[in-house]
Amino acid sequence: MPAAKIYKTLRFAERKMASSPDLASLYQLLAKQPTPILPSGERRAVLGCGYVGEAVARAWKQEGHELWATTTRRERLSELSELADSPLIFDSTDSSTHLDFVADIDGILISFAPSKSSVVDLTQYRSTFLGGMQRLIETLDRRSHNSPLQLVHLSSCGVYGNRQGAITNETAPTDSEHPVNQVLVQAEEMIASIRSHRIKVCVLRLGGIYGPGRDIPAMLLSAAGGLVQRNGLNVPCWIHRDDIVRGVCFAFEQGLNDTYNLVNDTQLSGQELTDCLCERAGLPLAKWMKINTSDRVLNARVSNDKLKQLGFTFTHPCMVG
Ligand SMILES: NC(=O)c1ccc[n+]([C@@H]2O[C@H](COP(=O)([O-])OP(=O)(O)OC[C@H]3O[C@@H](n4cnc5c(N)ncnc54)[C@H](OP(=O)(O)O)[C@@H]3O)[C@@H](O)[C@H]2O)c1
Repeated sequence: MPAAKIYKTLRFAERKMASSPDLASLYQLLAKQPTPILPSGERRAVLGCGYVGEAVARAWKQEGHELWATTTRRERLSELSELADSPLIFDSTDSSTHLDFVADIDGILISFAPSKSSVVDLTQYRSTFLGGMQRLIETLDRRSHNSPLQLVHLSSCGVYGNRQGAITNETAPTDSEHPVNQVLVQAEEMIASIRSHRIKVCVLRLGGIYGPGRDIPAMLLSAAGGLVQRNGLNVPCWIHRDDIVRGVCFAFEQGLNDTYNLVNDTQLSGQELTDCLCERAGLPLAKWMKINTSDRVLNARVSNDKLKQLGFTFTHPCMVG
């Protein structure tokens, strides 16, 4: 927003404040004004503005950046227009959609995920992650802009697979057996391949996401007294959506250019975590299986030390309590 317009907005607010001593109505009024883009404001894009993407877009808007945000669904465009200056349709499987707008952008969050089906469909995983990444890379290849670009790609700690509960940092080998993990690792490698002196690529490997509307503790509690058809000895990892937003902002502030685990401190097995939650709620414990089913398994005590050593802190360090 030009300085003259910011000045006009502030003068308008001042006049209103003089005529209304009610601060609450002033805040309401300011909330209706377009957010001024700060002199430091950048041009940023959220590719796949879903559960996490939306929360990041909200934070970036608050920071005063100019925003592009993509969805695959036309019906979401009006909702996204509340968050982004330019809501757009991008679907990696639809060649009539494109990412040309990234040509002169300063920062990109890659947060697309196959959201069309509740079951894991490998073809969809490939077309979303690999197809989406390919389309992005091709577009960035054509970028004539010489300014620096920061990319943050949201990957998953699922890539570590079954490490028998071992402490696992970013140097641990990734699982090459499960086809979903192969896709996720390949997507990481594709985006890392475009690192250059102008392009920084930060890969954040997330734990299972929880937060508003995704109440994993409540879901685990609903198993109280019942039988869970999963191996309770496996150790998953978790991250609250607020801490993902903080992690993405941290990556941008620090100009991160490497791979980091973004998980909270909870390193309990599925059964230990559920027992803990049930005991606190005074509910009967759930029974778990002690062998793996054919499901994709994460069984690793994933370390977040690398990010913490850079000064990153969590608002939700623990899943219990
Ligand atoms: N969920 C977890 O527990 C978890 C764990 C580890 C890592 N992650 C990663 O975290 C990131 C964010 O997850 P989330 O929960 O925010 O995902 P989400 O809510 O499912 O949002 C996914 C976004 O990707 C878009 N999308 C779907 N198919 C696409 C395609 N073919 N081409 C382009 N865009 C497409 C969706 O479009 P619409 O707006 O049309 O739906 C949506 O905006 C993802 O990269 C995911 O892999 C998630």
